Amino acid sequence: MKKLKVELEDLIKYSKTVRVLYAESDEKLRKDSLGIFKIFFHKIDAAKDGVEGFNYFENNKYDLIITSIDMPNMNGVEMITKIREISKDITILIKSSNTNNFIDLIRLGIDGYILKPVEIKQFTSIIQKVIEKLQNKQELYEYKNYLEQKVKDKTKALESLNNNLEQKVKEEISKNKYKDNLLSQQSKMAAMGEMIGNIAHQWRQPLTAISAASSGMQVQKECGVLTDEEFIKNCDVINKNVNHLSKTIDDFRDFIKGDRKQKIFNLKENIDTFLSLVESLCKSYNIDVVLNLQEDIQIDGFYNELTQCFMNIFNNAKDALKETKNKERLLFISTRIEDQNVIIKIKDNAGGIPENIISRIFEPYFTTKHKSQGTGLGLHMTYSFIVDGMNGTIKVNNVEFQYKNKKYTGAEFKIILPM
Ligand SMILES: Nc1ncnc2c1ncn2[C@@H]1O[C@H](COP(=O)(O)OP(=O)(O)O)[C@@H](O)[C@H]1O
Ligand SMILES: [Mg+2]
Repeated sequence: MKKLKVELEDLIKYSKTVRVLYAESDEKLRKDSLGIFKIFFHKIDAAKDGVEGFNYFENNKYDLIITSIDMPNMNGVEMITKIREISKDITILIKSSNTNNFIDLIRLGIDGYILKPVEIKQFTSIIQKVIEKLQNKQELYEYKNYLEQKVKDKTKALESLNNNLEQKVKEEISKNKYKDNLLSQQSKMAAMGEMIGNIAHQWRQPLTAISAASSGMQVQKECGVLTDEEFIKNCDVINKNVNHLSKTIDDFRDFIKGDRKQKIFNLKENIDTFLSLVESLCKSYNIDVVLNLQEDIQIDGFYNELTQCFMNIFNNAKDALKETKNKERLLFISTRIEDQNVIIKIKDNAGGIPENIISRIFEPYFTTKHKSQGTGLGLHMTYSFIVDGMNGTIKVNNVEFQYKNKKYTGAEFKIILPM
């Protein structure tokens, strides 16, 4: 604590700001003392006993209380006791030569004695101490304010940091939403691309047949050798193939139309739809599809999305099978019910997925294919349809198995859907 050396003038300058309550029952003494006190204090209320003094105290703000002890109604000790109940730290001076209550007063935390009558030297030194105390209090008060301001500033800074964070989080979320959208958009495009590839494939054979029949007839007609029989036979071929084309385009259209409505459907029917879409691909790549399907499994889900999942898994198997030197190219599809779950397994004999990448194949954009061939979106899309769309799970494993006395290895996808 710093000790202030205050000259009388300085002292008065300071003391003028001190608000004082003075209690004294002796009228003459009160008047005399007030004369001196007014040199030092600007605001000073004088009470004629403890009751009035306490009343003043309750209704005003004071920095200093000066009181005598012997007063009627309520004496000084009683008044100080009541004041201390309200304020623990207000400065109190006793102006009395009566030291009977000394111990009580010490206990009440008084700050000093002014002996009667007022002796100016002693008085100034006491006032000086009082002012020092008040100044210390003021310093403490200012320090407290300073700390409070600091806390406020820090809180503000934190708040703005918080707001910034919130903003950042919002931005990131909207960025993510955008990315998710983009991803799902890209997945759809990729699926479309693969689908159009399938359609083109599906159409190649019938178109060739139609073209062969019509150009054959044309040549025969030009040479004048077109018999009625031949004409009718070729028209039949053309009609059949046109019907086939029309049916495949209907199948694809139904599939692409993709009314995304959850409904209960038969799993086998769904797999049949899928097979009809890939039929000609299987033919041209010599892929044998081996089925082991339970007839009566009902699924509550999204029909076209499930078909799309099968297509995605199939397309990968087809790509892998294309690369193998196996004579037999096999695709196994099995379905069954186990513990209230539908289990769908699809496996091929294309050798499996390298162990170092198998954990990554469901990641978006993960592909081992050439840029023009793979987008890395097929299995990601499959995963989100099964897991997010239908509350299921999908796992992949490399498996070794025997088929017709021959050993094979390949990838096996296992889809589990809750019933
Ligand atoms: N049956 C499979 N056999 C071998 N590798 C597979 C098989 N299925 C998927 N993969 C691997 O998983 C990768 C990711 O597949 P996918 O998400 O469909 O993307 P893309 O077919 O465009 O590469 C493929 O590039 C391939 O390396
Ligand atoms: Mg794929």
